[in-house]
Amino acid sequence: MSLGASKAVVQVLCRPVTQTGYSEYLVNSSDLTLHSTFQVKCVKKKPPRHRHSIRCSSMLLSQLRRIHQLRPMGVSLVNYMNYSGSWLQTCKCQQSESASGITAGDGNGAWFVNNIETSNSVNNLANAKSIIEFQDVQQLKQEKVLTSKIANGTIPDSFSIEEEAWDLLRESIVHYCGSPIGTIAAKDPTSSNVLNYDQVFIRDFIPSGIAFLLKGEHDIVRNFILYTLQLQSWEKTMDCHSPGQGLMPASFKVRTVPLDGDDSATEEVLDPDFGEAAIGRVAPVDSGLWWIILLRAYGKCSGDLSVQERIDVQTGIKMILRLCLADGFDMFPTLLVTDGSCMIDRRMGIHGHPLEIQALFYSALLCAREMLTPEDGSADLIRALNNRLVALSFHIREYYWIDMKKLNEIYRYKTEEYSYDAVNKFNIYPDQISPWLVEWMPNKGGYLIGNLQPAHMDFRFFSLGNLWSVVNSLATMEQSHAILDLIEAKWSDLVAEMPFKICYPALEGQEWQIITGSDPKNTPWSYHNAGSWPTLLWQLTVACIKMNRPHIAAKAVEIAERRISRDKWPEYYDTKRSRFIGKQSRLFQTWSIAGYLVAKLLLTDPSKANILITEEDSELVNALITANPRGKRGRKNLKQTYIV
Ligand code: GLC
Repeated sequence: MSLGASKAVVQVLCRPVTQTGYSEYLVNSSDLTLHSTFQVKCVKKKPPRHRHSIRCSSMLLSQLRRIHQLRPMGVSLVNYMNYSGSWLQTCKCQQSESASGITAGDGNGAWFVNNIETSNSVNNLANAKSIIEFQDVQQLKQEKVLTSKIANGTIPDSFSIEEEAWDLLRESIVHYCGSPIGTIAAKDPTSSNVLNYDQVFIRDFIPSGIAFLLKGEHDIVRNFILYTLQLQSWEKTMDCHSPGQGLMPASFKVRTVPLDGDDSATEEVLDPDFGEAAIGRVAPVDSGLWWIILLRAYGKCSGDLSVQERIDVQTGIKMILRLCLADGFDMFPTLLVTDGSCMIDRRMGIHGHPLEIQALFYSALLCAREMLTPEDGSADLIRALNNRLVALSFHIREYYWIDMKKLNEIYRYKTEEYSYDAVNKFNIYPDQISPWLVEWMPNKGGYLIGNLQPAHMDFRFFSLGNLWSVVNSLATMEQSHAILDLIEAKWSDLVAEMPFKICYPALEGQEWQIITGSDPKNTPWSYHNAGSWPTLLWQLTVACIKMNRPHIAAKAVEIAERRISRDKWPEYYDTKRSRFIGKQSRLFQTWSIAGYLVAKLLLTDPSKANILITEEDSELVNALITANPRGKRGRKNLKQTYIV
C-alpha cells in the first residue's frame, strides 16, 4: 500500500482517542482536533509523546475534562468535585515519607522448625490465632535453631536481611511531584545497560505495594493506583494502530523535561510504555488485572474504600473489564493473548490461553465484582462478568487439571471424535504426553497445565498460574492441596537451591530453537525458560497460608535467606538446581526484595493474607454444579441461572 493510500485509510479508520480515553461519552469538537493531530503524527511516523504535567492547574483541567465527559453518565458536577477533591490534594507537593523504623519479624515463625500440618487444614484463616499461639510456644525453640544456624554460618541473620531489604526497597522508591508513586524495577549499580529497568513496572510494583500496605504505609499505593489510572486512558500507538482502551501500561517512567515556553524551568512528566517500545512490542495484558487486584488489597488493608468508590476508579475498572469481556471469535471462556503478555514477557510459546493470564483474569473478575458500585448502567457488565466467572472456573478446573488419573485418561484417549459429547473435546493426541511428564507426575499431587488449544496441551508446570489459582480459588480445594502436594514432592526441581522455578521443565534443543526463536536470554534453565525467580516467594506464601500449610513457604524462605542477600538480590537464578546467579540477571531487583519481604511479613501475621485471597462463593459453586456436563454432582439449590 502506498503512503498516500495508507494515509487515507488512517484518516478513515483511526478512532478518535482523547487524552482521557472516554471518547465513547464525548461528542464535541475536540474529537476532530485530536483526530487530525493523530493523523499528522501518524504520517510523520512519530509516536505521540504523552505528557502528564505536575502542575496542579493542568491536573485541574484534566479533571474538569472528565467532569464534562462523565456528566452524561449521570454524575453531577458537585459530586464529581467531591470525588476529585482528595485527588487534587495528592498533587500538592509533599515530602516523601521518611524511612520509618523497622519492625523486625520473627524469622520464619515456627513453620520450618516444626513441619506440622493440621488435618482439617482447608482454608481456615480462623486457625491463624492458634497458629500464632503455637508460634509463640515454639519461639524459644526456633530462636535456638536460628541462633545456632547463624552462629555456624549456615544462614545469615534473617533479621538483618529483612532490615537490608527494607532499606533497599525504600531506595527504589520513585517520586513524582514530590510524592512516592512506585518503585523502580532494579537499581543495579553494576549494570551498564539499564534498558527499561529504571522504570516502574506495574506487575513488579505489586509485591512492593503489598509490602508497604502490610507495613501501614498506604500513600504510595494510593498514589500508584491513581496515577496509573491516569495513564490507562492515554493514546498508545504502534505503527498507526492502537489497542483497545482500558489497557494499562507495562511500565512508566518519570522524566524531567524543559517546561514548554520557559527554558529556565523544568517539569516532570509520566511517560508510559504500553508495549510500543518494549522488546517484542507486546501488550501487557496482566497490568490491568494486577491493578484491580492491588486496588482491592489497598481497600481491604487500609480500610479506605473511598479510592475504589471514586467515579474515575470505577470507570477504570469497567474499562479493563470491557476490554477483557469483549466478544471475539473465541469458543473458550479463557482470554486469548499473544506470547509475552505477562510476567513472561518474551516468546516462550505461551500464546493462546496461558494459565497465568487466566488466573489473573479470574481474580480481577472476582475483585471487580466486589468493588463495583451498583448503578443503572452496569447491570449488563455484571451479568457478563458473572457468566464469565462460572464458565472460566469450569473450563480451567475441568480441562487444565492433570494428575496421574487424568494423565492416564489422556493416554488412552480416542481421537477424531465428532460429536457434542466427545470425551476428548480438544482432540488431543496421546503421543503429546512427553516422556518427562510420565516420569515427573507424582502419585500424590497434580497441577493445572500451562495452556490448552485445539490438539495441544502445554504440559509445562507454570508456577505463577498454579499458585495464583490456589490464592483465588480458581482451583478447587482438592486441586489446591494437590498443587501444594506436588510442590512438596518436586521440591528439588521447583525450589532446589533458590525458590522458585518460573516453569518446569526447560525447553531444550530444537524445541527451544523453534519456540523461543533461539533466544539467547532464554536458554534452557535460564530466565523465563525454567530459571528461578525469588519474587515468586510471595505468591507461594499466600497460597500456602490460604491452604493452612505455611510451613512449605517458610521452608522456601529459609532457603532463599541462605543466599539472596549475599548474592545481592538477583532477578533470577540459572541452572537446573538454581545454583548460579542468572546469566543476564539484574542485581538489586526490586521485586526480588519486595517478594521476600511480603513472604516474611505474611508468615509473621498470616491473617493479613486475607487482603489477597478470594474465597470461592457458593453461588458460583452452585452454578458450576449445574454446568458440569459429567453430572457428577447433581443440581442443588440453584438460585441463579448462568449461561455457560
Ligand atoms: C523482565 C521480566 C518482567 C518484568 C521486567 C521488569 O522483563 O520478564 O516480568 O516485569 O523484567 O522487572
